[in-house]
Amino acid sequence: MKFPLPLGLKTADGPVNASCYTKSRTPRRADKDKKDADMILREVASLVKVSFVTLRARWRYMLRYRRGKTPWDTGISPPELLDYLARHAAGRALEMGCGTGTNAITLAQHGWEVHAIDFSSAAIRTARRKARRAGVQVAFYCRSVTKTDDLPVPFDLILDIGCYHGLHPALQAQYAANLERLLAPGGTLLMYAHLRYPGMPRRYGLDEEGLRLLQQHVRLVQRVEGNGRRDHPSAWLTMQKEGSEAPRPEVQIAPER
Ligand SMILES: C[S@@+](CC[C@H](N)C(=O)[O-])C[C@H]1O[C@@H](n2cnc3c(N)ncnc32)[C@H](O)[C@@H]1O
Repeated sequence: MKFPLPLGLKTADGPVNASCYTKSRTPRRADKDKKDADMILREVASLVKVSFVTLRARWRYMLRYRRGKTPWDTGISPPELLDYLARHAAGRALEMGCGTGTNAITLAQHGWEVHAIDFSSAAIRTARRKARRAGVQVAFYCRSVTKTDDLPVPFDLILDIGCYHGLHPALQAQYAANLERLLAPGGTLLMYAHLRYPGMPRRYGLDEEGLRLLQQHVRLVQRVEGNGRRDHPSAWLTMQKEGSEAPRPEVQIAPER
């Protein structure tokens, strides 16, 4: 299936088929197409004043959601999250990169006030529909996980299943710095991440630097390693901000944005 170029832009050679990001083609052609597509995204990013890396990531995820290439979207909350919910009283939670909302809905069903962010409009549309069907209230935001200035802080829990590990290092630094403001004293960051290993084909996965950035703001309490899809090394991290848990806030859901 072919997708139109962003805003219908063309290169000097004519329109670029954006599927060059995912389809295999002859290596030289694919390289050229990729460069062309990046150049177009750079142009668009400067026009709409969004960073190129965010726009490129957004574009890639947009294609994946449109094509249904979303193997992570199982519709089932992982046992690690259910275990956390069984051991903690409900409070206010923020989910980073919530996808189609499965885990945000699970949190709401356990009595949590939930705010959930994803920059894929297709994913957020599905998430809103699923929450309505489930009869729960979740405040979904279609935006970058680094844009959190107007959220009702603090959060007792920040959940991240598969988002932080894919962020560009500059965005990881921003994300980590925001934890200071977002997390309540004693609050938890519960994260599932693929781990970066030597010889990985592209810059992806949680590495020492990504972990160090987080540890400037939260203390690593537990790290459970395992293998994810396609035997990819991965880990569940439980991290905590210093301080004792504050009294739970009044449950109040902000309007959807
Ligand atoms: C691997 S998927 C996981 C989705 C969901 N957590 C789940 O487990 O089903 C990563 C999600 O993060 C979102 N994402 C990646 N980078 C993002 C960013 N900078 N801002 C907002 N969402 C982002 C993607 O759109 C995608 O839905």
